[in-house]
Amino acid sequence: MALLVSARTYNYQPKLVDKIVVREFAFEFPQDLDPVWRRDNPVIAHLFNGLSLVKPYLEPHLAKSTLRAISHIDAPELIEDMRDFSAQESRHFECHRRLNEILKSNGYPELARVEERMARSYKRLTKKSLRTQLAYNAGFECMTNGFTNWMINKRTKLFAGGSPHVVSFFLMHAVEETEHKTVAYDAYMAFSGKYWPRAIGVIHGSFHVLAFSLMGMFTALKKDRQTGKPRSMFSVVREVGSMVGHIAPYLLRALLPWHNPRCDDDPQWVKDWIRGHAALPKGVMLPLIDTADPAMPVPFALDPVDGRSVVGQSDRRKGDRRRDVVIDVAAVLGFPDRRVGDRRATPELAIA
Ligand SMILES: [Fe+2]
Ligand SMILES: [Fe+2]
Repeated sequence: MALLVSARTYNYQPKLVDKIVVREFAFEFPQDLDPVWRRDNPVIAHLFNGLSLVKPYLEPHLAKSTLRAISHIDAPELIEDMRDFSAQESRHFECHRRLNEILKSNGYPELARVEERMARSYKRLTKKSLRTQLAYNAGFECMTNGFTNWMINKRTKLFAGGSPHVVSFFLMHAVEETEHKTVAYDAYMAFSGKYWPRAIGVIHGSFHVLAFSLMGMFTALKKDRQTGKPRSMFSVVREVGSMVGHIAPYLLRALLPWHNPRCDDDPQWVKDWIRGHAALPKGVMLPLIDTADPAMPVPFALDPVDGRSVVGQSDRRKGDRRRDVVIDVAAVLGFPDRRVGDRRATPELAIA
């Protein structure tokens, strides 16, 4: 008989969104997609391709281990979140697999060797205890929150002029990661709640995924004969350094014993995207993001809300960014994140 552990040790807290919505990734990648989908910055393209490569191995693991843990949980709200989380992750890896097949067919068959190593590594992970697997999931998802904030807030720098298909896919994935950012943490806290395994999971989950992503990136750069060129290596240091610099505060915060992913508010762009998608007629293909637009707004025609333009809300001013840096530093030191605001914002927007 399954052991129920949550009734004695765990109290469910509301998440930042009203509902985790399971959506279809209703767009097609062109079969002749150029794997270097940002021609002016191949390192960015290969860095994100490397991240895509790991997802069909990582995300089935996240989904399966979370579903396995359900029999140990008796908080109905959390069980519903865990099912929705697993359904979202399953749709993510199916779409990443489609993209990865095109990357391999269109010039980078060498990536298959990296995939073989990932398959072996994730097989070994499934042999670990369920607590270790859930701690890995919670740690990885906490790091992902920093990653998705970086992608969304820096989208105009990272994706300007890039393939609208690839960019739209990565940003939609980022929206859903933000939407379900509390679930892996909650599942671990309900299952175990012990600090040290979770802290180890933060390091294990984060560096395991990043190492395989970088392996994919360097495999593609080697194929392009770029690994020995100082200019390309400088670009690697700059882009990977920027990514690590943005993720680091989230990773450090995740290591605090009292950490809870609820302390990070969701970017306005994410809220706009969720609201825009909710108004989309069922069964239509997803509109693509205009990567030539200097603001790269959400790909939905939204009316102004509360007298403010939705596009205007998405554009973060320099003052806001400086304030965020100060709050990030304070939050690492344990002060509350005052960006946590109106938890009713998303549901209200969804029914608007
Ligand atoms: Fe995902
Ligand atoms: Fe996720």
